[in-house]
Amino acid sequence: MKYIVEVENITKKYGNVIAVNNVSFKIAEGEFFSLLGPSGCGKTTILRIIGGFIDQDDGLVRIDGINMSKIPPNKRKTSMVFQNLALFPHMNVEDNIVYGLKKRKMQPFKIREKLNSILSVVNLEGLQKRRIDQLSGGQQQRVALARSLIIEPELLLLDEPLASLDKKLRVSMRFELKEIQKRTGTTFLYVTHDQSEALTLSDTVAVMNEGSIVQLGKADWIYNNPEDSFVADFIGAGNFIPLTGNYKRMDGLIEMQAKAGGNICISRKSGHNYLKEADATHYDTGFERACRKLENGIKMKKDLYFFIRPEKVRVSQNQFCLMPDTEPVFNQYRATVLSRIFEGPDTRIVLQSDEIGKVTAELKNDISYENFSEKSSAFICWSAYEGTVL
Ligand SMILES: Nc1ncnc2c1ncn2[C@@H]1O[C@H](COP(=O)(O)OP(=O)(O)OP(=O)(O)O)[C@@H](O)[C@H]1O
Ligand SMILES: [Mg+2]
Repeated sequence: MKYIVEVENITKKYGNVIAVNNVSFKIAEGEFFSLLGPSGCGKTTILRIIGGFIDQDDGLVRIDGINMSKIPPNKRKTSMVFQNLALFPHMNVEDNIVYGLKKRKMQPFKIREKLNSILSVVNLEGLQKRRIDQLSGGQQQRVALARSLIIEPELLLLDEPLASLDKKLRVSMRFELKEIQKRTGTTFLYVTHDQSEALTLSDTVAVMNEGSIVQLGKADWIYNNPEDSFVADFIGAGNFIPLTGNYKRMDGLIEMQAKAGGNICISRKSGHNYLKEADATHYDTGFERACRKLENGIKMKKDLYFFIRPEKVRVSQNQFCLMPDTEPVFNQYRATVLSRIFEGPDTRIVLQSDEIGKVTAELKNDISYENFSEKSSAFICWSAYEGTVL
């Protein structure tokens, strides 16, 4: 696989602040790669280092296999879309877009050819003579994209490019961005603090916190298999159910019985667990992690949780029972409905269980959620294959 970008152990300090702390990642050719994290975690700093606008204190950046130290921004095969767009307000659309090509002294007929092609890519045909202040937010956004794409960078750096748009436009621009990326085949490095944006757009997501990458992987993998509670919480909602129980290691095998409330929730021990040994791999990383935590002195009940997404929690008026040919029912708890919130396509139901505490479930509205009025009793459960230990 060809890597367009290789970032190796970069660190950047501002006085006492470690903006970027020993970060490494690689981006493959044509990939849509996102840096996702809360404000101040170092996303823009990484983008600026790759673009050549600031220098790292330590580590190196390679683009196309070449070490970029001492190579200025205009000599790198990158182009950047800034958060505030940085368009020239006194120029029209066309002049904004071709600015970079003119600076590179490209022949006028060639510039026209490229302009026409990029206008169609970003859907701005017919608007080339408009002034920037006569455009909508989304159109300005497309001008900024066109201006960066027209110089045909190998890598496009995008710093929260949709942040200034209203919600509806932001969502529709997402699809356009993805389309444009596919059409041009350009590698995108995208920065956002919006988890749903990162999940819908990206092939690969690097979740950041306090200057470091805490988890890196395919978007759906990270969503379904968060490695720690920061990632789990930052990428979408979830239920953290405190675990109690025992564990021991024997002959290199982990034996663990963790309980949420009265019911056995997770266990690797054959005999009275719900996971057959062959199925247990799903939980292996969770178990390893949980055991490491316990060995490092973290107490169950305080810092160890079973984590389950609201859409994986099933709710029923009646007890779930074992049906032939279906997976067995485990993790079943009696609960009382605390609240029910209609959210358009989904309904969010918050329930209280004596055994495991407060649990949020998200139901599709084709399920008869009307049955779950406040104070009514219900049963909740989830599949043995869902959730993880954090
Ligand atoms: N020029 C600077 N001088 C001093 N500190 C800086 C400078 N630039 C960034 N920082 C600090 O470095 C850290 C990382 O900043 P950075 O701009 O990379 O964050 P970010 O993840 O892009 O945040 P946001 O989502 O708010 O844009 C922050 O604590 C910030 O205050
Ligand atoms: Mg930033």
